[in-house]
Amino acid sequence: MPAFPRTRMRRTRQMPWLRSLVAEHRLTTDDLVWPIFVHEGTEPEVPVASMPGVVRYSVDRVAEAVKEARDLGIRAVALFPATDPAKKTPDGEEALNPENLVNRTLRLLARECAGVGLIADVALDPYTTHGQDGLLREGRVVNDETLEMLRKQAVVQAQSGSTMVAPSDMMDGRIGAVREALDEAKLQDVGILAYSAKYASAYYGPFRDAVGSKGNLGKGDKRTYQMDPANTEEALREVALDIEEGADAVMVKPGQPYLDIVRRVKDAFHVPTFVYQVSGEYAMIQAAAERGWIDGDAILLESLLSFKRAGADAILTYGAVRAAKMLGR
Ligand code: PBG
Repeated sequence: MPAFPRTRMRRTRQMPWLRSLVAEHRLTTDDLVWPIFVHEGTEPEVPVASMPGVVRYSVDRVAEAVKEARDLGIRAVALFPATDPAKKTPDGEEALNPENLVNRTLRLLARECAGVGLIADVALDPYTTHGQDGLLREGRVVNDETLEMLRKQAVVQAQSGSTMVAPSDMMDGRIGAVREALDEAKLQDVGILAYSAKYASAYYGPFRDAVGSKGNLGKGDKRTYQMDPANTEEALREVALDIEEGADAVMVKPGQPYLDIVRRVKDAFHVPTFVYQVSGEYAMIQAAAERGWIDGDAILLESLLSFKRAGADAILTYGAVRAAKMLGR
């Protein structure tokens, strides 16, 4: 007996109610983390040219934006500073300043925006004149000396109100080093979201515009620490190490070009798995939508749902507010 016509796959697609009942995955605001940029100036919102719809907020304006996001159901924000170029140094000491832009913003948001997760980025690139995530010695990004900086940076961020720190620098041993430093500072309840499988990607271009590190990095690249896009097994080793070192959640980044990695990580480790829809992914959707070539809203939601389907538990996206508004309808 042939399957057709007894079996008709289209039957469960006929009615909206049935499509809803058989849907395997659902995107909700509970899945969303909103990455935001802050700047030192007084201008409340400065548009980021390569990311239409994204702005850098002043410290005075940022709480209002975060409250709006919270009220739309967004669960957490990830903060990124556009540091005043005058404060950048070869060793990025500004990263450790309790009064730096990120730490001031963390204190403000912790006070004014109760209930929202505050995720701080642990890495030196917003603060170094060369734009690398670590310390540069004779043209090389040095690992172990950088760890000493990252430990201190994470502790000061946690003391300023970050409830989860997110090392994005890809130095070896950073998760263990940061965990130890937090524990020693009696910050044992502060979590670590590890950018475990972070690839050396061209998709980060607009982000480097937004935080003003593109000019600093110049012709440099991050291939001696971020992962080679050719590799998969290596991502699993990175994740395994980060879990062993104390990561509470792991991340794959970028997102859409690396859905295979999201799925493999989720299947192999069964730990909270985040994915970052990075600046270049966002810019591509926006650019095509602006030209009228695609339906930007629909593609945003479809791209986010694809992360859920691949096994992601949470998604960092610059489209979080827009998505939340659509999901709330
Ligand atoms: C750097 C950092 C980067 C992003 C987040 N943290 C860029 C980089 O590694 O150069 C990229 C995010 C994005 O492109 O949206 N520590």
